[in-house]
Amino acid sequence: MTRTAPWWRSAVIYQVYIRSFADANGDGVGDIAGIRSRLPYLKSLGVDAVWINPWYKSPMADHGYDVADYRAIDPLFGTVAEAEQLIEEAHRHGIRVIPDIVPNHTSDQHAWFRAALAAGPGSPERERYVFRSGRGPGGAEPPNDWVSCFGGPAWTRLPDGDWYLHLFAPQQPDLNWQHPEVRAEFESILRFWFSRGVDGFRIDVAHGLVKHPELPDLPPRQEPAVLGPLISRESAGDRPRSHVDHPHWDRDEVHDIYRAWRRVADEFPGDRSFVAEAWADSPERLAAYVREDGLHTAFNFDFLMSGWDAKELRTVIDDSLAMLGAVGAPATWVLSNHDVMRHPSRYGRRATKRWTANEPYRPDGPADLELGTRRARAAALLMLALPGGAYVYQGEELGLPEVEDLPEDLLQDPVWERSGHTDRGRDGCRVPLPWSGGTAPYGFSPDGASAAPWLPQPEAWGELSVAAQTADPASMLELYREALRLRREHPALGDGTLAWLDTGESVLAFRRDPGFVCVVNLSPEPCPLPAHTSVLLSSGPLADGLLPPDHAVWLAV
Ligand code: GLC
Repeated sequence: MTRTAPWWRSAVIYQVYIRSFADANGDGVGDIAGIRSRLPYLKSLGVDAVWINPWYKSPMADHGYDVADYRAIDPLFGTVAEAEQLIEEAHRHGIRVIPDIVPNHTSDQHAWFRAALAAGPGSPERERYVFRSGRGPGGAEPPNDWVSCFGGPAWTRLPDGDWYLHLFAPQQPDLNWQHPEVRAEFESILRFWFSRGVDGFRIDVAHGLVKHPELPDLPPRQEPAVLGPLISRESAGDRPRSHVDHPHWDRDEVHDIYRAWRRVADEFPGDRSFVAEAWADSPERLAAYVREDGLHTAFNFDFLMSGWDAKELRTVIDDSLAMLGAVGAPATWVLSNHDVMRHPSRYGRRATKRWTANEPYRPDGPADLELGTRRARAAALLMLALPGGAYVYQGEELGLPEVEDLPEDLLQDPVWERSGHTDRGRDGCRVPLPWSGGTAPYGFSPDGASAAPWLPQPEAWGELSVAAQTADPASMLELYREALRLRREHPALGDGTLAWLDTGESVLAFRRDPGFVCVVNLSPEPCPLPAHTSVLLSSGPLADGLLPPDHAVWLAV
């Protein structure tokens, strides 16, 4: 490439779940000072940017995804001044900073919602949200049949008789994006943070902002099409799923908002960039978010939801590259995040098929973590060799599994309560990171901390700590470090294209020019390697020159 492509076309972005990354003040909850203290680690890992989950002032009903003030940092995490310091220091380390923005809903403690409650039915204050009267005698039934992603109805009734919409928890009232003040306010919030140096935003529930103006019931026999984070697994469906005109997900009108946001980003120097959390029915629908005058990138959840299956993965990769390529956008690849079961635990199960349904997650028996970890190592090499950008969720580079045995009385995700204790929710992928030492808090909190980590860390996590894995060439951490180092240096990696090699159904092999081949063996037998000059990196030892099952290798050709 002659012209230097913008950084976000090939960036490896590390997701910092702030509560669980590093706790500097010893209160058991991660904070901005903790992130600052670990910048050298992120630098040595070799990532290009960090995405930080919501750090704004919040009552924490959904751990920060319920924002009370978008221009303030929650005292649990720090101050705006500390955020500015973090941004500056990260930049000095060559790391960009992308906070989360939560535009679909605010907290019920946001000044606007409090004003709406105080002002009463029919007031202009209520128009910034979605208030309606109910159906049936006395308006006692919700205005429609929409359901909350966290379980139960998407409507809550107030003592004054009005109902308000919340696609998530009742503490997360949905904003009315038809209201000009809502649009203006968010553009102003973007400017507030852009002028403090952030390099972009991850947009929460980007596909949910616009609702059908008449708020009709869900289409008949139609489950809510895409329930955002609460994806669960089901047997492989036919791809691509057909798109349904849904009253609140992925409506075409949402793109107007992002065209306006793009103009805001373009007011600022440097390559500021957005990544959409958009759950779309198909790669075509996803591509609509990332046009030239819209957002820059979107998470590719099809890759994350794909089973450990060569055919399925290849279809997802081909469809994603084709659809995104058609609109000139780079692909992004993601294996885990703070909403889904960590991938060593997913890949360690029999049913690793594509997930599609909206039922609560139900694992099919215990995970085989040795198998899952082997596949996770191979998946990392696959992901980091694909054209485009990639996301690494904190702890994935340590091979952390899902913590599936958290005691019920400690579960904090609202999903647990809202599902009537049928779905344990997402706490198992949010357990604080182990940094060093043989016992909890494993360096997550400083010595002599006043409180234990907000979720308990498993006893065996000493072996998985950063300190334990550093310099061990067989560790997951060193595999990620080496892969990221090679990725930075190798001219074939990052943005670009790929060409598949013919290696049969269960082996994925592709070439990237100049001179690079990635092979992933998803078959049950060792497989031969294509002609090569050297092995650059492999997810485990080769056996007599063959690539064992569930392994991947990078070759120089
Ligand atoms: C997104 C976030 C998730 C949050 C939800 C509501 O899906 O990733 O963690 O609970 O939005 O804001």
